[in-house]
Parts: sequence; C-alpha cells; structure tokens
Amino acid sequence: MKGIILAGGSGTRLYPTTLAITKQLLPIYDKPMILYPLSVLMLAGIREILIIVTSRDIERFKYLFGNGELLGIHIDYKIQKEPNGLAEAFILGDEFIGQDSVSLILGDNIFYGQGFKNILNECMELDSKNGGAITFAYPVKDPNRFGVVEFDDDFNVLSLEEKPENPKSNYALTGLYFYDNNVIDIAKSLKPSKRGELEITDVNLTYLKNGKLKTKALGRGFTWLDTGTPESMCEASNFVSTIENRQNYKIACLEEIAYYNGWIDDFILQKSIDKLHKSEYGKYLLDLLKGKNNENK
Ligand code: G1P
Repeated sequence: MKGIILAGGSGTRLYPTTLAITKQLLPIYDKPMILYPLSVLMLAGIREILIIVTSRDIERFKYLFGNGELLGIHIDYKIQKEPNGLAEAFILGDEFIGQDSVSLILGDNIFYGQGFKNILNECMELDSKNGGAITFAYPVKDPNRFGVVEFDDDFNVLSLEEKPENPKSNYALTGLYFYDNNVIDIAKSLKPSKRGELEITDVNLTYLKNGKLKTKALGRGFTWLDTGTPESMCEASNFVSTIENRQNYKIACLEEIAYYNGWIDDFILQKSIDKLHKSEYGKYLLDLLKGKNNENK
C-alpha cells in the first residue's frame, strides 16, 4: 500500500494568512498541520509516501521532512500546478502508485480516537487488484459543506453527493480513502465537474456503481476535524492542546510512531532530539528515548 497526502490548493478561505504560505504548514497547536495526516498513514503502516504540493511550497516541505529518513519512511514530492481537484492525485501519482493499492489523505484532515490503528490495519488488507474502495463517514452538524453519504439500516451506501444543498443524511465523507489499483484508470476517465475539478466523489460513485464501495461510520468517541477556516484551525488547536496537556501524550508525534513501529532506532531518534530539543516536542522525544512514555505504546 502506497500513501498520498494532498497538500496543494490555494487555501483562499484563510486569506490573508495563506497568501505567502500553504495552510498545511501552518500550526495546529504545537506542530504543522501536515503532521496529522502523515501520522495517519504511518499509523496504518505505510512507509512509501507521496506529498502533492504547490510549486511555491515544495522547498518548504522538503525542508520539513527531507526524504523521510528521520521518520523511517520514504517521502517523494510532486507538484500540482493548478487546483484541479482531489482525484488528480491519482493521475499525478500514477508512476508512484505503480501496481499497488493506495491510500489518499487530505492535508488538512485530523483523525483521533482509540482503536483507530486497528481500523487502519484492516484497510491495509485491501487487495490491490480488485479490493474496491474504503471510505469513512462521520456525523456533522453542517453536512452540506462536505461529500455526504446516505446509508441503509445495515450501513450499506445508498447514495453519495458532493456538497448537496439538501443533504440526505448528516454523515460527511472524511478526507481519508483507500483504493485498489483501478483508481488510476477511474481518475483518468473522469470529466471535470461544474466547478472545474476532478471530484473524489465521482471516483467513489464509480466504485459504488460497481458494487465495490465500503464506507465505515466513525461515531461518538471518535474525532475528525478538518481545518480549512480560521475557526476550525482554532478549534483543532484547542482540541489538541486539551488532550496533550491533560494526558501528556502527543497527537501525531511522527518520531514516536516510527519508533514504536520499529522503523527508527535510538540513534536516529537522537538526531531529531538534537534538532528539536529546545521545544516541548523535542523534550517529549527525549522522554520517549528514556522510556518514560512507554505505557503509550
Ligand atoms: C473534500 C471532498 C469532500 C470531503 C472533504 C473532507 O472537500 O471533496 O467530499 O467531505 O474534502 O474534508 P473540500 O475540502 O475539498 O471542499
């Protein structure tokens, strides 16, 4: 399974903040936004990751992660020239995906909840040839801002609509997707929507039509946040700060995930500590090395 993070886009809803820098590099509490979606792919166990970015920001992302060595993963970068829609990720990522299955996560999505790793592990078993698609739904107050999924009583998908005026349910489709290799051809066959974008909802509708779309509902006790507006960024920062300061466990600490996955050893972890030691994040890594956080494993 390969992983793609889509971190392009112009972030116009955050202007003037994003006039000079992409939103995925802005902080959510104590770390750049993009660490949250990257943590999801790493928790799933994905080690080959493509980050799709704008030409303006590519060097900043490289400065942040390099080739992923300090995280025990391999990171490639690809430029998306225009915001042509989420489904373009599979066209830009064609060679990177190769014959594999692929998970796509949007660079502004935050997921948090007990048992999430198990859910992700199940998705990793998706057959690359004909396994279909797995998506996630989450109840929200304002579904018309999202892709909306309608279920029958057994949680089979009945319909999918992108930002409908009259949503058929309160279940939004989150920005995390798992696909078999057919997604590349499906994306290439799409026509731009009315707003001129290759829509991820159209990809999912193709899988639905073929009887190959599964949607898992994430309910109470689980947190999914998207962070595309000033309010939602503030809310997400407050959420992360509340949890982290209460429990003293970090959300989306990439080095910690890599360390517990056995992808980096003490020597590599020490390199990150040397770089970050003046921050709380760096001190947390030092505690990790000393074995103080081990019950969190
Ligand atoms: C995109 C998708 C939408 C999904 C949302 C999740 O919307 O098109 O289906 O519900 O991400 O964050 P966008 O954020 O591009 O408006």
